[in-house]
Amino acid sequence: MYQDLEGKVAVVTGGSKGIGSAISKRYGQEKMNVVINYNSDHAGAQKTADSVIAAGGHAVIVQADIANEEGVKTLMDTAIRNYGTLDIWVNNAGMEIKSATHELSLEDWNKVININQTGVFLGSRIALEYFKSHNKKGNIINLSSVHEKIPWPTFASYAATKGSVKLFTQTIAMEYAKDNIRVNAIGPGAINTPINAQKFSDQEQYEQTVKMVPMDRIGKPEEVAAGAAWLASDESSYVTGITLFIDGGMTLYPAFKDGQG
Ligand code: BGC
Repeated sequence: MYQDLEGKVAVVTGGSKGIGSAISKRYGQEKMNVVINYNSDHAGAQKTADSVIAAGGHAVIVQADIANEEGVKTLMDTAIRNYGTLDIWVNNAGMEIKSATHELSLEDWNKVININQTGVFLGSRIALEYFKSHNKKGNIINLSSVHEKIPWPTFASYAATKGSVKLFTQTIAMEYAKDNIRVNAIGPGAINTPINAQKFSDQEQYEQTVKMVPMDRIGKPEEVAAGAAWLASDESSYVTGITLFIDGGMTLYPAFKDGQG
């Protein structure tokens, strides 16, 4: 637990399931006030809110499309109306679409770009505007992926957005460092979440994925949430512009793990 997080106000996009839900719950354990955004899964968001409240925090759920300006404004307005301020903005919402790149439709490409890339820009921009105009110390956390670093055939749109999130994070971290605003990314590896549910229900695909993890297991959403708590807290006060990989070693070239090469 991080003492300084108690009472802080966080917006978490895509909080109805998976990593966003785990981050919200962890923030609840830190006794924070959490604005939980969802797009379509109202029941999931409500479940997340219940877990935040049960853990000792406060929560409100908000439907909004984070890929447009009105959507992120709704989230910001909710934070101010309910909790009076904003301390931490977590751009977590994301999606992936599998397709051979030569068959990838423009429509699917745009869907992934809009949420994973434009959504991160819009969320960051409104948070930065708030922190700047209120002369307030601020904290932005962007959910990237191991695929900001590892190419991912048949997921070109996803990998492209995560590469973008990395450099966007570094750029605004540098731009606003003097304003006491820290901006970091988290790069999860293979985590047990709904985005992977179908893939991991197939034993062969599950085992193939585990093989790419030096720690020999799939990660838990709570293990990613722990990073989001540390980055939000003053314990990481001198950290900005990093991607914190939480991946069991997936980014360490696991094909070399038994001394091959
Ligand atoms: C993706 C997962 C994938 C993992 C490792 C994540 O960013 O969302 O679907 O299992 O990277 O490849």
